[in-house]
Amino acid sequence: MSAVRTALYAQVADIRIDTNGRDAASVHGAVESALGLVDIVAREPRRLDVESPRGAYAIHVGAGLLADGRQLAEAIRGRHVLIATDANVARIQLPVLEASLRRLRPDLVIAVHCMPPGEAEKTLGRWQEAVAALAKLGATRDATVVALGGGVVGDLAGFAAATWMRGIDVVQVPTTLLAMVDSSVGGKTGVDLPAGKNLVGAFHPPAAVIADTAALSTLPARELRAGLAEVVKYGAIFDATFLDWLDDRAEALLAGDPEATAEAVLRSCRYKADVVARDPFERGDRALLNFGHTFGHAIETEQGYTGATGGLVHGEAVAVGMVLAARLSTALGRAAQADADRLLALLQRFGLPTRVPAGLDPSALLARMRLDKKADAAGLRFVLWDGAGRGVIVRDVPESAVMAVLAG
Ligand SMILES: NC(=O)c1ccc[n+]([C@@H]2O[C@H](COP(=O)([O-])OP(=O)(O)OC[C@H]3O[C@@H](n4cnc5c(N)ncnc54)[C@H](O)[C@@H]3O)[C@@H](O)[C@H]2O)c1
Ligand SMILES: [Zn+2]
Repeated sequence: MSAVRTALYAQVADIRIDTNGRDAASVHGAVESALGLVDIVAREPRRLDVESPRGAYAIHVGAGLLADGRQLAEAIRGRHVLIATDANVARIQLPVLEASLRRLRPDLVIAVHCMPPGEAEKTLGRWQEAVAALAKLGATRDATVVALGGGVVGDLAGFAAATWMRGIDVVQVPTTLLAMVDSSVGGKTGVDLPAGKNLVGAFHPPAAVIADTAALSTLPARELRAGLAEVVKYGAIFDATFLDWLDDRAEALLAGDPEATAEAVLRSCRYKADVVARDPFERGDRALLNFGHTFGHAIETEQGYTGATGGLVHGEAVAVGMVLAARLSTALGRAAQADADRLLALLQRFGLPTRVPAGLDPSALLARMRLDKKADAAGLRFVLWDGAGRGVIVRDVPESAVMAVLAG
Protein backbone atom coordinates (compact mmCIF):
# COMPACT_ATOMS: atom_id res chain seq x y z
CA MET A 1 0.00 0.00 0.00
CA SER A 2 2.68 2.40 1.11
CA ALA A 3 4.74 1.67 -2.01
CA VAL A 4 1.71 2.38 -4.21
CA ARG A 5 1.16 5.66 -2.45
CA THR A 6 4.81 6.66 -2.73
CA ALA A 7 4.82 6.01 -6.47
CA LEU A 8 1.64 8.00 -6.92
CA TYR A 9 2.96 10.95 -4.91
CA ALA A 10 6.19 10.88 -6.88
CA GLN A 11 4.21 11.20 -10.10
CA VAL A 12 2.18 14.23 -9.07
CA ALA A 13 4.61 16.08 -6.81
CA ASP A 14 6.27 19.30 -7.94
CA ILE A 15 8.70 19.36 -5.03
CA ARG A 16 10.07 16.49 -2.96
CA ILE A 17 11.53 16.95 0.52
CA ASP A 18 13.16 14.17 2.46
CA THR A 19 11.95 14.33 6.06
CA ASN A 20 13.85 11.32 7.37
CA GLY A 21 15.83 12.16 10.48
CA ARG A 22 14.87 15.85 10.41
CA ASP A 23 13.03 17.80 13.08
CA ALA A 24 9.99 19.97 12.37
CA ALA A 25 11.96 23.23 12.18
CA SER A 26 14.37 21.83 9.67
CA VAL A 27 11.55 20.45 7.53
CA HIS A 28 9.79 23.79 7.73
CA GLY A 29 12.97 25.52 6.57
CA ALA A 30 13.35 23.09 3.70
CA VAL A 31 9.75 23.65 2.60
CA GLU A 32 10.18 27.41 2.69
CA SER A 33 13.39 27.30 0.67
CA ALA A 34 11.83 24.90 -1.81
CA LEU A 35 8.93 27.24 -2.32
CA GLY A 36 11.34 30.10 -2.81
CA LEU A 37 9.94 32.01 0.14
CA VAL A 38 13.23 32.37 1.90
CA ASP A 39 14.86 33.63 -1.25
CA ILE A 40 12.24 36.27 -1.75
CA VAL A 41 11.90 37.38 1.82
CA ALA A 42 15.12 36.96 3.63
CA ARG A 43 18.02 36.33 1.33
CA GLU A 44 17.37 39.31 -0.84
CA PRO A 45 18.03 42.40 1.20
CA ARG A 46 16.06 45.35 0.04
CA ARG A 47 17.46 48.81 -0.33
CA LEU A 48 15.92 52.23 -0.02
CA ASP A 49 17.79 55.44 -0.83
CA VAL A 50 17.15 58.54 1.24
CA GLU A 51 18.05 62.13 0.40
CA SER A 52 19.67 64.13 3.17
CA PRO A 53 21.57 67.39 3.65
CA ARG A 54 24.74 65.34 4.29
CA GLY A 55 24.25 63.37 1.08
CA ALA A 56 22.06 60.46 0.08
CA TYR A 57 22.28 57.29 2.14
CA ALA A 58 21.01 53.74 1.79
CA ILE A 59 18.75 51.83 4.14
CA HIS A 60 19.33 48.08 3.79
CA VAL A 61 16.66 45.76 5.14
CA GLY A 62 17.01 41.99 5.22
CA ALA A 63 17.66 38.93 7.36
CA GLY A 64 21.30 38.05 7.97
CA LEU A 65 22.91 41.37 7.05
CA LEU A 66 25.16 41.37 10.14
CA ALA A 67 26.56 37.93 9.41
CA ASP A 68 27.01 38.93 5.78
CA GLY A 69 28.67 42.23 6.64
CA ARG A 70 29.14 43.54 3.11
CA GLN A 71 26.82 46.54 3.41
CA LEU A 72 28.51 47.54 6.65
CA ALA A 73 32.04 47.07 5.33
CA GLU A 74 31.22 49.18 2.28
CA ALA A 75 29.78 52.01 4.36
CA ILE A 76 33.02 52.65 6.24
CA ARG A 77 35.34 55.21 4.64
CA GLY A 78 38.30 55.71 6.97
CA ARG A 79 40.45 53.46 9.13
CA HIS A 80 39.02 54.08 12.62
CA VAL A 81 35.78 52.50 13.78
CA LEU A 82 34.10 52.82 17.14
CA ILE A 83 31.32 50.28 17.63
CA ALA A 84 28.97 51.71 20.23
CA THR A 85 26.49 49.31 21.77
CA ASP A 86 24.78 48.36 25.02
CA ALA A 87 25.38 45.41 27.31
CA ASN A 88 22.42 43.35 26.02
CA VAL A 89 23.29 43.76 22.36
CA ALA A 90 27.00 43.27 23.11
CA ARG A 91 26.18 39.76 24.31
CA ILE A 92 24.06 38.80 21.32
CA GLN A 93 24.71 40.72 18.09
CA LEU A 94 28.15 42.26 18.65
CA PRO A 95 30.20 39.08 18.11
CA VAL A 96 28.57 38.53 14.70
CA LEU A 97 29.02 42.11 13.54
CA GLU A 98 32.58 42.36 14.79
CA ALA A 99 33.58 39.10 13.13
CA SER A 100 32.15 40.19 9.78
CA LEU A 101 33.91 43.52 9.95
CA ARG A 102 37.28 42.02 10.88
CA ARG A 103 36.92 39.43 8.12
CA LEU A 104 35.97 41.89 5.37
CA ARG A 105 38.03 44.86 6.51
CA PRO A 106 41.27 43.68 8.16
CA ASP A 107 42.65 47.18 7.53
CA LEU A 108 40.44 48.76 10.21
CA VAL A 109 41.35 49.84 13.73
CA ILE A 110 38.26 48.85 15.72
CA ALA A 111 37.30 49.68 19.28
CA VAL A 112 34.11 48.74 21.10
CA HIS A 113 32.31 51.06 23.48
CA CYS A 114 29.59 49.44 25.57
CA MET A 115 27.08 51.25 27.78
CA PRO A 116 24.47 49.91 30.19
CA PRO A 117 21.05 49.43 28.52
CA GLY A 118 17.99 51.60 28.99
CA GLU A 119 16.54 55.06 28.46
CA ALA A 120 17.91 56.22 31.82
CA GLU A 121 21.39 55.94 30.28
CA LYS A 122 20.72 58.35 27.39
CA THR A 123 22.56 61.07 29.26
CA LEU A 124 25.26 63.69 28.76
CA GLY A 125 27.46 61.60 31.06
CA ARG A 126 27.23 58.59 28.72
CA TRP A 127 27.78 60.85 25.71
CA GLN A 128 30.96 62.10 27.35
CA GLU A 129 32.16 58.52 27.79
CA ALA A 130 31.48 57.81 24.11
CA VAL A 131 33.48 60.81 22.88
CA ALA A 132 36.25 59.88 25.34
CA ALA A 133 36.32 56.46 23.65
CA LEU A 134 36.75 58.22 20.28
CA ALA A 135 39.64 60.22 21.72
CA LYS A 136 41.26 57.07 23.04
CA LEU A 137 40.89 55.41 19.65
CA GLY A 138 42.64 58.39 18.05
CA ALA A 139 39.64 58.87 15.78
CA THR A 140 40.28 61.26 12.90
CA ARG A 141 37.80 63.20 10.72
CA ASP A 142 37.23 60.15 8.54
CA ALA A 143 36.43 57.83 11.48
CA THR A 144 33.09 56.05 11.70
CA VAL A 145 30.84 55.34 14.65
CA VAL A 146 28.81 52.16 14.23
CA ALA A 147 25.69 52.43 16.41
CA LEU A 148 24.68 48.86 17.13
CA GLY A 149 21.53 48.64 19.23
CA GLY A 150 18.15 50.18 19.87
CA GLY A 151 17.14 53.81 19.73
CA VAL A 152 18.98 54.67 22.91
CA VAL A 153 22.34 53.58 21.49
CA GLY A 154 21.45 55.06 18.09
CA ASP A 155 20.57 58.48 19.49
CA LEU A 156 23.54 58.64 21.84
CA ALA A 157 26.16 57.23 19.48
CA GLY A 158 24.72 59.37 16.67
CA PHE A 159 25.14 62.45 18.88
CA ALA A 160 28.72 61.44 19.70
CA ALA A 161 29.38 61.20 15.95
CA ALA A 162 27.63 64.53 15.34
CA THR A 163 29.81 66.32 17.86
CA TRP A 164 33.20 64.59 17.52
CA MET A 165 35.34 66.96 15.45
CA ARG A 166 32.07 68.68 14.44
CA GLY A 167 30.72 65.59 12.77
CA ILE A 168 32.00 62.22 11.60
CA ASP A 169 30.13 59.37 9.91
CA VAL A 170 27.70 57.23 11.81
CA VAL A 171 26.35 53.96 10.45
CA GLN A 172 23.14 53.03 12.18
CA VAL A 173 22.73 49.31 12.81
CA PRO A 174 19.37 49.10 14.55
CA THR A 175 18.57 45.94 16.50
CA THR A 176 15.11 46.79 17.85
CA LEU A 177 11.99 47.10 15.73
CA LEU A 178 11.55 50.66 16.98
CA ALA A 179 15.04 51.63 15.88
CA MET A 180 14.59 49.92 12.49
CA VAL A 181 11.35 51.69 11.68
CA ASP A 182 12.04 55.04 13.25
CA SER A 183 15.07 56.24 15.19
CA SER A 184 17.80 54.98 12.84
CA VAL A 185 16.34 56.89 9.88
CA GLY A 186 16.23 60.66 9.55
CA GLY A 187 19.25 61.87 11.46
CA LYS A 188 17.86 63.03 14.78
CA THR A 189 20.38 62.33 17.52
CA GLY A 190 20.64 63.43 21.11
CA VAL A 191 20.37 62.76 24.81
CA ASP A 192 17.83 63.38 27.56
CA LEU A 193 18.08 65.79 30.46
CA PRO A 194 16.22 65.38 33.75
CA ALA A 195 14.10 68.31 32.51
CA GLY A 196 12.95 66.50 29.38
CA LYS A 197 13.53 64.05 26.55
CA ASN A 198 15.98 64.75 23.75
CA LEU A 199 16.58 68.32 24.91
CA VAL A 200 20.22 68.25 23.77
CA GLY A 201 20.92 66.98 20.29
CA ALA A 202 21.75 67.52 16.65
CA PHE A 203 20.51 66.63 13.19
CA HIS A 204 23.10 64.20 11.90
CA PRO A 205 21.95 61.86 9.12
CA PRO A 206 23.67 58.48 8.97
CA ALA A 207 26.08 57.34 6.27
CA ALA A 208 23.99 54.16 5.99
CA VAL A 209 21.35 52.19 7.87
CA ILE A 210 21.65 48.42 8.10
CA ALA A 211 18.56 46.73 9.50
CA ASP A 212 19.10 43.00 9.98
CA THR A 213 15.60 41.72 10.66
CA ALA A 214 17.05 38.43 11.95
CA ALA A 215 18.32 40.38 14.98
CA LEU A 216 14.71 40.81 16.06
CA SER A 217 14.43 37.13 16.93
CA THR A 218 16.13 37.81 20.28
CA LEU A 219 14.17 40.94 21.07
CA PRO A 220 11.91 40.66 24.15
CA ALA A 221 8.22 40.53 23.17
CA ARG A 222 7.55 43.75 25.05
CA GLU A 223 10.12 45.63 22.96
CA LEU A 224 8.68 44.17 19.75
CA ARG A 225 5.25 45.50 20.72
CA ALA A 226 6.74 48.89 21.58
CA GLY A 227 8.20 49.06 18.06
CA LEU A 228 4.83 48.20 16.57
CA ALA A 229 3.45 51.37 18.18
CA GLU A 230 5.71 53.47 15.93
CA VAL A 231 4.69 51.35 12.94
CA VAL A 232 1.03 52.08 13.71
CA LYS A 233 1.95 55.76 13.91
CA TYR A 234 2.79 55.85 10.18
CA GLY A 235 -0.64 54.52 9.31
CA ALA A 236 -2.28 56.95 11.70
CA ILE A 237 -0.69 60.05 10.19
CA PHE A 238 -0.07 59.09 6.56
CA ASP A 239 -2.09 56.15 5.32
CA ALA A 240 -5.29 54.59 6.64
CA THR A 241 -4.86 51.58 4.34
CA PHE A 242 -1.63 50.76 6.18
CA LEU A 243 -3.70 50.47 9.36
CA ASP A 244 -5.85 47.86 7.56
CA TRP A 245 -2.72 46.04 6.44
CA LEU A 246 -1.46 45.99 10.04
CA ASP A 247 -4.79 44.75 11.28
CA ASP A 248 -4.67 41.88 8.77
CA ARG A 249 -1.13 40.94 9.74
CA ALA A 250 -1.29 41.57 13.48
CA GLU A 251 -0.80 37.94 14.42
CA ALA A 252 2.03 37.38 11.96
CA LEU A 253 3.81 40.49 13.18
CA LEU A 254 3.46 39.52 16.83
CA ALA A 255 4.80 36.07 16.01
CA GLY A 256 7.82 37.58 14.29
CA ASP A 257 6.91 36.27 10.85
CA PRO A 258 9.91 37.22 8.67
CA GLU A 259 7.96 38.29 5.59
CA ALA A 260 5.43 40.46 7.43
CA THR A 261 8.20 41.95 9.57
CA ALA A 262 10.46 42.81 6.64
CA GLU A 263 7.57 44.42 4.83
CA ALA A 264 6.47 46.42 7.89
CA VAL A 265 10.05 47.69 8.34
CA LEU A 266 10.43 48.61 4.71
CA ARG A 267 7.08 50.36 4.44
CA SER A 268 7.71 52.27 7.66
CA CYS A 269 11.15 53.37 6.46
CA ARG A 270 9.58 54.53 3.23
CA TYR A 271 7.01 56.73 5.01
CA LYS A 272 9.72 58.17 7.21
CA ALA A 273 12.28 58.61 4.41
CA ASP A 274 9.73 60.50 2.30
CA VAL A 275 8.89 62.99 4.98
CA VAL A 276 12.47 63.58 6.16
CA ALA A 277 13.63 64.09 2.58
CA ARG A 278 10.96 66.79 2.18
CA ASP A 279 11.67 68.41 5.52
CA PRO A 280 15.05 67.36 6.96
CA PHE A 281 15.12 69.93 9.78
CA GLU A 282 11.52 69.60 10.93
CA ARG A 283 10.35 73.02 9.85
CA GLY A 284 7.10 71.66 8.48
CA ASP A 285 5.34 68.34 8.10
CA ARG A 286 8.15 66.19 9.52
CA ALA A 287 6.66 67.24 12.85
CA LEU A 288 3.75 64.90 12.03
CA LEU A 289 6.06 62.09 13.16
CA ASN A 290 5.53 63.38 16.68
CA PHE A 291 1.95 62.10 16.69
CA GLY A 292 1.40 60.79 20.22
CA HIS A 293 4.79 62.03 21.33
CA THR A 294 3.91 65.21 23.24
CA PHE A 295 1.75 63.11 25.56
CA GLY A 296 4.17 60.18 25.41
CA HIS A 297 7.26 62.22 26.30
CA ALA A 298 5.42 63.84 29.19
CA ILE A 299 4.58 60.38 30.56
CA GLU A 300 8.14 59.11 30.11
CA THR A 301 9.67 62.19 31.73
CA GLU A 302 7.17 62.24 34.59
CA GLN A 303 7.97 58.58 35.26
CA GLY A 304 11.69 59.39 35.26
CA TYR A 305 12.46 57.12 32.24
CA THR A 306 11.76 54.02 34.30
CA GLY A 307 10.68 51.77 31.43
CA ALA A 308 12.95 49.02 32.70
CA THR A 309 11.64 49.20 36.26
CA GLY A 310 7.88 49.49 36.14
CA GLY A 311 7.33 52.55 33.94
CA LEU A 312 6.49 52.65 30.25
CA VAL A 313 9.15 52.34 27.55
CA HIS A 314 9.13 54.88 24.73
CA GLY A 315 6.95 52.94 22.28
CA GLU A 316 4.42 52.13 24.99
CA ALA A 317 4.22 55.76 26.05
CA VAL A 318 3.69 56.69 22.38
CA ALA A 319 0.82 54.17 22.17
CA VAL A 320 -0.92 55.88 25.08
CA GLY A 321 -0.07 59.25 23.56
CA MET A 322 -1.64 58.34 20.22
CA VAL A 323 -4.87 57.32 21.91
CA LEU A 324 -4.92 60.65 23.75
CA ALA A 325 -4.11 62.59 20.57
CA ALA A 326 -6.97 60.83 18.77
CA ARG A 327 -9.34 61.61 21.65
CA LEU A 328 -8.24 65.24 21.67
CA SER A 329 -8.90 65.39 17.92
CA THR A 330 -12.41 64.06 18.47
CA ALA A 331 -13.00 66.50 21.34
CA LEU A 332 -11.92 69.41 19.13
CA GLY A 333 -14.33 68.27 16.41
CA ARG A 334 -11.59 67.31 13.92
CA ALA A 335 -12.21 63.58 13.65
CA ALA A 336 -14.87 60.95 14.18
CA GLN A 337 -15.05 58.92 17.37
CA ALA A 338 -15.00 55.76 15.23
CA ASP A 339 -11.45 56.54 14.05
CA ALA A 340 -10.24 56.90 17.63
CA ASP A 341 -11.96 53.62 18.55
CA ARG A 342 -10.31 51.82 15.67
CA LEU A 343 -6.86 53.05 16.62
CA LEU A 344 -7.44 52.00 20.21
CA ALA A 345 -8.52 48.52 19.11
CA LEU A 346 -5.45 48.06 16.90
CA LEU A 347 -3.06 49.12 19.67
CA GLN A 348 -4.83 46.78 22.08
CA ARG A 349 -4.46 43.99 19.58
CA PHE A 350 -0.73 44.59 19.64
CA GLY A 351 -0.83 44.29 23.43
CA LEU A 352 0.08 47.92 23.98
CA PRO A 353 -1.04 50.10 26.89
CA THR A 354 -3.69 52.66 25.97
CA ARG A 355 -4.33 54.51 29.24
CA VAL A 356 -2.32 57.00 31.28
CA PRO A 357 -0.59 54.94 33.97
CA ALA A 358 -2.21 55.14 37.38
CA GLY A 359 -0.66 57.61 39.77
CA LEU A 360 0.39 60.22 37.21
CA ASP A 361 -1.01 63.66 37.94
CA PRO A 362 -2.67 65.26 34.87
CA SER A 363 -1.53 68.76 35.83
CA ALA A 364 2.06 67.57 36.23
CA LEU A 365 1.85 66.01 32.73
CA LEU A 366 0.46 69.27 31.35
CA ALA A 367 3.36 71.18 32.91
CA ARG A 368 5.77 68.78 31.18
CA MET A 369 4.05 69.38 27.86
CA ARG A 370 4.55 73.13 28.15
CA LEU A 371 8.29 72.46 28.19
CA ASP A 372 8.21 69.99 25.32
CA LYS A 373 9.85 71.18 22.13
CA LYS A 374 6.48 70.83 20.43
CA ALA A 375 5.18 73.74 22.52
CA ASP A 376 6.11 77.19 21.26
CA ALA A 377 5.51 80.76 22.35
CA ALA A 378 2.00 80.80 20.87
CA GLY A 379 0.73 78.05 23.15
CA LEU A 380 0.46 74.27 23.10
CA ARG A 381 1.15 72.75 19.73
CA PHE A 382 -0.05 69.23 19.04
CA VAL A 383 0.08 66.74 16.27
CA LEU A 384 -3.51 65.61 15.91
CA TRP A 385 -5.43 63.98 13.10
CA ASP A 386 -8.38 64.79 10.87
CA GLY A 387 -9.19 61.09 10.92
CA ALA A 388 -7.15 57.94 10.23
CA GLY A 389 -4.24 58.58 7.86
CA ARG A 390 -4.52 62.37 8.04
CA GLY A 391 -2.14 63.79 10.64
CA VAL A 392 -2.24 67.55 11.14
CA ILE A 393 -0.28 70.07 13.21
CA VAL A 394 -2.52 72.22 15.38
CA ARG A 395 -1.42 75.32 17.26
CA ASP A 396 -3.04 77.01 20.24
CA VAL A 397 -4.73 73.93 21.57
CA PRO A 398 -6.65 75.04 24.68
CA GLU A 399 -5.14 73.63 27.86
CA SER A 400 -8.62 72.87 29.18
CA ALA A 401 -9.22 70.42 26.31
CA VAL A 402 -5.87 68.75 26.98
CA MET A 403 -6.63 68.47 30.67
CA ALA A 404 -10.01 66.91 29.94
CA VAL A 405 -8.38 64.23 27.80
CA LEU A 406 -5.65 63.56 30.39
CA ALA A 407 -8.14 63.23 33.19
CA GLY A 408 -10.61 61.13 31.18
N1 LIG B 1 16.11 59.72 16.68
C1 LIG B 1 14.85 59.52 16.42
O1 LIG B 1 14.35 59.98 15.39
C2 LIG B 1 14.04 58.69 17.34
C3 LIG B 1 12.80 58.21 16.93
C4 LIG B 1 12.10 57.37 17.78
C5 LIG B 1 12.63 57.04 19.01
N2 LIG B 1 13.84 57.53 19.38
C6 LIG B 1 14.44 57.16 20.66
O2 LIG B 1 14.67 55.77 20.68
C7 LIG B 1 14.70 55.33 22.02
C8 LIG B 1 13.95 54.04 22.17
O3 LIG B 1 14.57 53.05 21.40
P1 LIG B 1 14.30 51.50 21.64
O4 LIG B 1 12.87 51.28 21.83
O5 LIG B 1 15.01 50.79 20.57
O6 LIG B 1 14.93 51.25 23.08
P2 LIG B 1 16.34 50.70 23.60
O7 LIG B 1 17.46 51.19 22.78
O8 LIG B 1 16.35 51.00 25.05
O9 LIG B 1 16.22 49.12 23.39
C9 LIG B 1 15.26 48.39 24.12
C10 LIG B 1 15.87 47.22 24.89
O10 LIG B 1 16.12 46.14 23.98
C11 LIG B 1 17.46 45.68 24.12
N3 LIG B 1 17.83 45.16 22.80
C12 LIG B 1 18.12 45.87 21.69
N4 LIG B 1 18.24 45.07 20.64
C13 LIG B 1 18.05 43.80 21.07
C14 LIG B 1 18.02 42.53 20.43
N5 LIG B 1 18.15 42.42 19.11
N6 LIG B 1 17.80 41.45 21.20
C15 LIG B 1 17.60 41.58 22.54
N7 LIG B 1 17.57 42.74 23.19
C16 LIG B 1 17.79 43.86 22.46
C17 LIG B 1 18.22 46.87 24.61
O11 LIG B 1 19.39 46.50 25.28
C18 LIG B 1 17.20 47.52 25.56
O12 LIG B 1 17.23 46.89 26.79
C19 LIG B 1 14.15 56.46 22.84
O13 LIG B 1 15.20 57.12 23.52
C20 LIG B 1 13.55 57.40 21.83
O14 LIG B 1 13.57 58.75 22.25
C21 LIG B 1 14.55 58.34 18.56
ZN1 LIG C 1 9.06 57.73 18.97
